Amino acid sequence: MDIRIDIDRLSRELETLASFTDSLPPSVTRVLYTPTDLAAREYLKGLCREAGLEVREDPLGNTFACWIGEDPQAGAVGTGSHIDAIPHAGRYDGTVGVLGGLEALRALKSAGFRPKRSLELLIFTSEEPTRFGIGCLGSRMLSGALSPEAARKLEDKDGKTLEEARWEAGFLGELEEVPLPKGYYSAFVELHIEQGPILERQQIPLGVVTAIAAPASLRLIIEGEGGHAGAVLMHERHDAFLAAAEIALAAEAAARATGAPDTVATSGVCEVFPGAINSVPSLVRLELDIRDIDLLRRDGVVNAVYKACEAQRKKRGVHIGLEVLNADPPAHSSPKVVEALDRACAAYGLNYLTMVSRAYHDSLFMARIAPTAMLFIPCKNGWSHRPDEYAAPEHIEQGVRVLAHALAELAGS
Ligand code: GLV
Ligand code: MN
Ligand code: MN
Ligand code: MN
Repeated sequence: MDIRIDIDRLSRELETLASFTDSLPPSVTRVLYTPTDLAAREYLKGLCREAGLEVREDPLGNTFACWIGEDPQAGAVGTGSHIDAIPHAGRYDGTVGVLGGLEALRALKSAGFRPKRSLELLIFTSEEPTRFGIGCLGSRMLSGALSPEAARKLEDKDGKTLEEARWEAGFLGELEEVPLPKGYYSAFVELHIEQGPILERQQIPLGVVTAIAAPASLRLIIEGEGGHAGAVLMHERHDAFLAAAEIALAAEAAARATGAPDTVATSGVCEVFPGAINSVPSLVRLELDIRDIDLLRRDGVVNAVYKACEAQRKKRGVHIGLEVLNADPPAHSSPKVVEALDRACAAYGLNYLTMVSRAYHDSLFMARIAPTAMLFIPCKNGWSHRPDEYAAPEHIEQGVRVLAHALAELAGS
């Protein structure tokens, strides 16, 4: 089969999708259910319909674009990723797997392929945790890892619930309809930029992901005692920010102490109240992201944070409320899908690296309900989650071609 990827069209579409942004280009900011997110979804649904795919949405906004196969009862073969972008991000994270997945299906159609199993593009709702504080919202619910009851309790910082936000965005219906029935997908493949420097450094055009690291996120509300920065004596203080600082440093020390490069800990949110230079911080919201490919090691760092909280309660007389936002196990790829990717790479004489993903992806949850694997392409300097994120057209093209080949094999004809 002669699979031809129209990389010019795909590059134009990536550029157009990047124009749906709430920050100054080249940065991309596209947050769940904002008018910008909804407009980008309309653009994509239009492209899917133009390609002759059947489009449907679930009550959370997960979007499915289906090429119905000759045996529609057989488990479908899925591909896809996300289009939401964290504040001031770039144009390739997630979108390469969405528009690249669409291009793979279009290329297979043009090549005259007739799938036995249905082939379906999935655009997941909110892979990023920007709103509601939890990543992989769509895939988490599709897989059943997040129950409708738990989802109904989700509330954003501004007090808006997920239920209110999705209704306002026009996604109605019951959340009970979101989880996919067992066997819905016989295989799932996600194409994504690596978001790290390994492929580029080793000059290898593709990565086949064998496992995805286990992410955990914690939210700490630290209550101390405020006061005048000049008047409150040092030994009488209960400084909430200094407690937060020591906890963040304890997380860093615990992550470094494992000696494993796969252990990482980040304190990416630290909101200080009242946030005045001449006022002792009385309240801090600190959020930590802790990951490892090894679950026990990851939980060791989480426990170190608990201990650090205890130590700060004693040392500084602060009150600390701790909420575990998520603590997910790692995912392991399916040998069946990895082998399909291996054969697809071989078909084009392309070398690949097997690797773990330290970033999480919707595949972390799809792996719970379907044989799943991911395909990585290099990105410049490993940069991601920043406006200068870049993937070269030739790498995107190679990734989409390999994806299309693997999807065709998995779908059968
Ligand atoms: C998602 O982008 C992540 O934080 O890995
Ligand atoms: Mn991301
Ligand atoms: Mn992503
Ligand atoms: Mn991600």
